[in-house]
Amino acid sequence: MLPRINTFIKSSAFFQLARRPLHPIRTLTSTPPNMVKVMAVLYKGGKAAQEEPRLLGTIENKLGISDWLREQGHEFIVTEDKEGPDSVFQKNLPDTEILITTPFHPGYLTADLIEKSPKLRLCVTAGVGSDHVDLNAANKHKITVAEVSGSNVTSVAEHVVMSILLLVRNFTTGHDQAINGKWDVASIARDAYDLEGKVVGTVGCGRIGYRVLQRLQGFDCKELLWFDYNDIPADAAKSINARRVNSLEELVEQCDVITINCPLHEQTRGLFNKELIGKMKKGSWLVNTARGAIVDADAAAEALKSGHLRGYAGDVWNVQPAPADHPWRSMTNPLGAGNGMVPHYSGTTLDAQKRYADGAFDIIKRYLAGEPQNPANVIVENGDYATKAYGKRDGKA
Ligand code: NAI
Repeated sequence: MLPRINTFIKSSAFFQLARRPLHPIRTLTSTPPNMVKVMAVLYKGGKAAQEEPRLLGTIENKLGISDWLREQGHEFIVTEDKEGPDSVFQKNLPDTEILITTPFHPGYLTADLIEKSPKLRLCVTAGVGSDHVDLNAANKHKITVAEVSGSNVTSVAEHVVMSILLLVRNFTTGHDQAINGKWDVASIARDAYDLEGKVVGTVGCGRIGYRVLQRLQGFDCKELLWFDYNDIPADAAKSINARRVNSLEELVEQCDVITINCPLHEQTRGLFNKELIGKMKKGSWLVNTARGAIVDADAAAEALKSGHLRGYAGDVWNVQPAPADHPWRSMTNPLGAGNGMVPHYSGTTLDAQKRYADGAFDIIKRYLAGEPQNPANVIVENGDYATKAYGKRDGKA
């Protein structure tokens, strides 16, 4: 059963639904220009990028598209310098036509910056999650925002399952002992549990949320739950043997483990605040690989400190790179455990980088050739949302 469903999902019939544009075929309005200015804001790879050319998402390896763009006569600026008016990013924006950036080191394209960027026509997210662009402002200026949908969803789903396990099993306490010359089994085991018999739920059951539930099939959880305002096909729902709940409150009140897998948008910013976290079961675990700003940073740190949350893990932060004194770096539960945070990398494995670099290239080539984009990749276009995943909107949810 599962392989057939997998093929079904990969063949796009399923998850194209979540991203079906209002008009199936739309051509980009820009006249194919002779030469355009393209800017990429990527993270610095340093020595690692020099030694490992498959680190494509870095300023050194430039998504592998630098030679092609320059051969075509286009100008290509690549930078990691993205903060403040004197940054390379902000200084080059006013005459940039195509902006590429990545959620791992996002160039935050605010409404104010969009106002000052009259030539900007296309924003490409090398990865998944385009919340770093003010999408309403992009609509106002009829800028297209496209991402490489699906490129790293398996990478993230695997990371979610790993994070759930490392929290529930209190892995980091044991690992710390192993590398620090200690051996105190009781102090690990006093906070270690089995995932078997627990209730796990996802907020958002799109490409990632669904794959997380798929991957949890073998753990004999007591129940798998999902909450999403969009539906999934009956066959797909049946294959994950999970129960849909009607509200977020209903989800959080029942779950031992919550995993967040929805985009950051107006309705999810700060969603897991003190009040909602307070409704979670005492001693439950929260995993967030979606976006840091979906969770109130102080509320999560406080809940962990008090023991209301037993653990919090993820790779996304409300500011990236996260400052050295970010509360999520040092927060623990009363037993000094429960912190499964890492820098934002779950969706940028070497396997994922190849897929999102290829996908970004395809989006740019289509734009430059005046061809329509793959509808599954389009977030906003022609002044409107082309996806149903960025919040309930009139008639589209
Ligand atoms: P998707 O578009 O396939 O699915 C997202 C689902 O969330 C949709 O079904 C949508 O209806 C649902 N949703 C939106 N708002 C919701 C709400 N308020 N409550 C419940 N459900 C809601 O997107 P996909 O590919 O699953 O990715 C989800 C998010 O994961 C991305 O937007 C991105 O922020 C994050 N992500 C993180 C990565 C990482 O490296 N940590 C890499 C890739 C994605």
